[in-house]
Amino acid sequence: MTDKGAQYEHQPVMLEEVLDMWFSRGDGFYVDGTFGRGGHSRALLEKLDAQGRLAGIDRDPQAVAAGEQLASEDGRFQIVASRFDCLPDVVDQVGRPIDGLLLDLGVSSPQLDVAGRGFSFLRDGPLDMRMDPTQGESVAQWLARADEQDIANVLYRYGDERKSRRIARRICEERKEQPITRTLQLADLIESAIGRGEPGKHPATRSFQALRIHINGELDALTQVLEQSLETLAIGGRLAIISFHSLEDRIVKLFIRDHSGRAPKGRGGLPLGDEMPQRLEPIGKAIRASKAELKVNVRSRSAVLRVAEKVA
Ligand SMILES: C[S@@+](CC[C@H](N)C(=O)[O-])C[C@H]1O[C@@H](n2cnc3c(N)ncnc32)[C@H](O)[C@@H]1O
Repeated sequence: MTDKGAQYEHQPVMLEEVLDMWFSRGDGFYVDGTFGRGGHSRALLEKLDAQGRLAGIDRDPQAVAAGEQLASEDGRFQIVASRFDCLPDVVDQVGRPIDGLLLDLGVSSPQLDVAGRGFSFLRDGPLDMRMDPTQGESVAQWLARADEQDIANVLYRYGDERKSRRIARRICEERKEQPITRTLQLADLIESAIGRGEPGKHPATRSFQALRIHINGELDALTQVLEQSLETLAIGGRLAIISFHSLEDRIVKLFIRDHSGRAPKGRGGLPLGDEMPQRLEPIGKAIRASKAELKVNVRSRSAVLRVAEKVA
């Protein structure tokens, strides 16, 4: 696959809000856990002074190539080809706690727009969807071997797809006839199983989101990196997370709530008398993109930013 990344730029979401709420010291050590095309990283580098350091992490080889370019231009920056839930290794390498960790979750515009990456239900390409195409199995490989029930569960759990069983049945019927290997083949098959659905929304939207989350283990990675952040942030260090759907945001919201001493107690919550020590303090409330940004960046529509500071 050729790298057409340069043609497919990514516009960073809530850039000013992130810098306002997250950035605190010019000589700090920051980690951008989702480097992408470096929109947030570049803006942060402008704020850092000569002693400041920034490590960008990405699991996508094309994002890493963009990071190598930035590293060659700015000695304060380094790129790490890794999953962000290997955060302790990155911190060990650098040898100092983190003053700020940013996670701008989900996929980048180049990942969605380049048909060959296999994320898009609008462009024909191999049915892949791996952020790191050198690791694990593609969606096509998984759909060829998974149980019908497992497929339905993934579509329901990660895509909130009410017609998950019908789609899973169609997938299993189709794969007896021919392998499902192309994005448009799957998108058409989903449409034939459940019809056109909501106006203005492609019927494959929910299923593609679900398959992408599953194949990349996105929610597990998020849960793990949040736990790791408690051990790797410096006291006073800040965590900023931009989520793009309610499953991610719920994980982030509950994590910050529970570690800021606000976990409910009694029925459905922590056992009475079981205190969870406060380790985080939320910085402001969850915020959404401004009206001005919504007009120019359609990706910002579903974005939610939450920031918290490590206090213990
Ligand atoms: C929304 S984009 C980030 C865009 C970036 N903030 C910018 O301004 O260019 C998300 C990026 O995170 C990467 N990513 C997602 N999950 C990851 C994980 N678990 N580990 C490392 N990188 C991940 C994706 O490959 C993608 O490049």
